[in-house]
Formats: sequence, structure tokens, C-alpha cells
Amino acid sequence: MVDDDRSHILAADLHDADVVVESSLRPRSLDEYIGQREVKANLSILLTAAKARGEAADHVLLYGPPGLGKTTLATIIARELGVNVRYTSGPAVERPGDLAAVLTSLEERDVLFIDEIHRLNRAVEEILYPAMEDYALDVMIGKGPSARSLRLSLKPFTVIGATTRAGRISSPLRDRFGATYRLDFYEEVELTEIVERSARILGVEIDGAAAIAIAKRGRGTPRIVNRLLKRVRDHAEVHGDGRVDEPAAIEAMRLLEIDDAGLDSTDRKLLAAIIQKFASGPVGVQALAAVLSEEIETIEDVYEPYLLRLGFLDRTPQGRIATEAARNHLAALGYEIPPPRRGEPEVLPLWDEPGPSSGGV
Ligand code: ADE
Repeated sequence: MVDDDRSHILAADLHDADVVVESSLRPRSLDEYIGQREVKANLSILLTAAKARGEAADHVLLYGPPGLGKTTLATIIARELGVNVRYTSGPAVERPGDLAAVLTSLEERDVLFIDEIHRLNRAVEEILYPAMEDYALDVMIGKGPSARSLRLSLKPFTVIGATTRAGRISSPLRDRFGATYRLDFYEEVELTEIVERSARILGVEIDGAAAIAIAKRGRGTPRIVNRLLKRVRDHAEVHGDGRVDEPAAIEAMRLLEIDDAGLDSTDRKLLAAIIQKFASGPVGVQALAAVLSEEIETIEDVYEPYLLRLGFLDRTPQGRIATEAARNHLAALGYEIPPPRRGEPEVLPLWDEPGPSSGGV
């Protein structure tokens, strides 16, 4: 049985009404979960096998851009296993003792979800290695020459780690996960289905074309389409009878400065900076971060993945490049587009073509 009180212990901001609605939109089982078909299929096997053996499931690492459902999947995994889930995150666990306290409080086969696991500090990570590998906790007793290490055993449990990039995790930690799954951006039809499901839960009357309009602008991300749906609902209640059709949805999103590709003002600012200040690039991410007053990590994890996927941005060893598609997109919105410093990467011939003087036989 999932003990709801315990499962919310570390989700401190759950008082906020918006977060409660957000969590009510989350699917509660793999069957309800839309999209990520391969991940679901693999997880389903992993969970069924663990349940049949009556053992803790293998540790699972989930990676991918924010908002794609990593926390939701962890909650579903615990639910499907019929165990409790504890939520924490890399930056929240400051000292080894903090993690030891959580580990010793877990019950048999419980799930421990660690968000942003790449941000665990080294000392804490070292507590996690034996805990994951042998369900053991190594504690030091005493100080100086008489210090001894004592090994305590833990009940078998499952770590679900989440990160925006698998490459950020140290290899000893990565090696301790039995299964690693990458979450990818959702397809438009999947997002449309998610909008329609969320609208049913929220009691919003929405037609198919409006759901598609929201999905198209949702940057492949369930969290974003759900947020857009709520803002569109607000607009329809204030300016109409609360029913959402396509023109109402598009108008509401236009007021939010979301364009037809789903880009918001920050995305456009980023592209415009590369195009106007750096002649379309290449430009290093540090220089971009300085111009935009953003953290490098936020640019890399939050803004760039969808721009890369849209083909508006290229990452090269020399830096970021805004593509012709990005220039055309911003030109259509009235931005001034100076000529790029260099065109698209040159396509070099695979072999030397004979020159005019090389003659023939
Ligand atoms: N709400 C948020 N993410 C979802 C998903 N993947 N499936 C169904 N509803 C969702």
C-alpha cells in the first residue's frame, strides 16, 4: 500500500493549490501514462519480474529534458510495486548523514527518488555506492587512530535517479543503475491526447482543433501543455463562456507571447542574440549566458534541447549556431536579420574532383 503521508514528506511545496492541481493531472498508472512507449514497455517488464520474485526492483536511471515525466514515472513505479516513495534531490542532500537518515528509514522494497542526481556531492555519493550495491551503510565510529568503519545493513530498496543529462553523472554512480531510460520529447498526437485528458480532469470544454493548437505549441512537453491549457482556460472564462475553441486558444497563447512554433520570449531572445549580436554564431555558451543573464545550465537544459530538436540551433565544437530556419522564423516575426558571418556548414566533396587542367587520357 502506498502511504500518502509518507510519500509527500519531502515535497514541501505541495501546499500550493496550483501544485495540487498539477499533481491531480499526473497519470497514476503505466496504463494511464501517454507516450514514451518503449520506456513503458521496458519498465513494465522490470516491474512485473521484480514483483513476481518478491524482490526490490533494480535501480533505475531516468534522463531527459525537464517536464517530460521523470517524477511522475517514479511515483507510478512505486505505486505499481505497491510500496512507498520518498522524494529528494541532489542539492537537498547536503551531508552524508542526511542521506544515511533517509536510507535507514526506508522500508523493504521502498522507492527512493533522487531528482537532479548529478548534483549530489562527492561525500554523499560515496554513501550511496555501497547502499545501492550491497544495501549496506558504512559508518565511521570515532576519530583519529582509533576510528573504525562499521557496516550496517539496509533493507533492500530501489533508487530512481533523474537527471537532465546522463553524461553529467559520475561513472561509478551510473554503473550502479540496472536500467537506464531516456525520455524523449512527446509527439504532437500524444500531447493532444494529454491536453484532452487534462481538460476532462479539470472540467474544461475544449474542441479537438484547440487541443491540437495547444499541443503544437507545447514544445514536446506535458508540463508545458498542461500549463498552457490552464492559461487558455482562464482566458476563455474571462473573455467568453469558458468553452475553448481554436481561435480562443490561439488568441490566449498569442497574448502569452507564445508563437506558432511554441517559442516564448526567452527562446526568441536567445536566438535573436545569436543572430544579431554574434552574426548567427558560432558563439560559446558562456558568452550567450552573459548576454542573456542566464545560468549556463539553464540555457543548456531548459532552452536548447527543444531549439535543437526544431532545427533552429546547431551545437558545433566552435559553439552554437542559429540555423537558416531560425533566421526565417524570426524574420517572419519582424526581427532584423543581419547576414550570417558564415553560411551553413560547407559540404565538402568526398573526393577531389578533377580540375579543368587535370586533363584526361
Ligand atoms: N500528464 C502529464 N504527463 C502525462 C502523460 N505522460 N500521460 C498522461 N497524462 C500526463
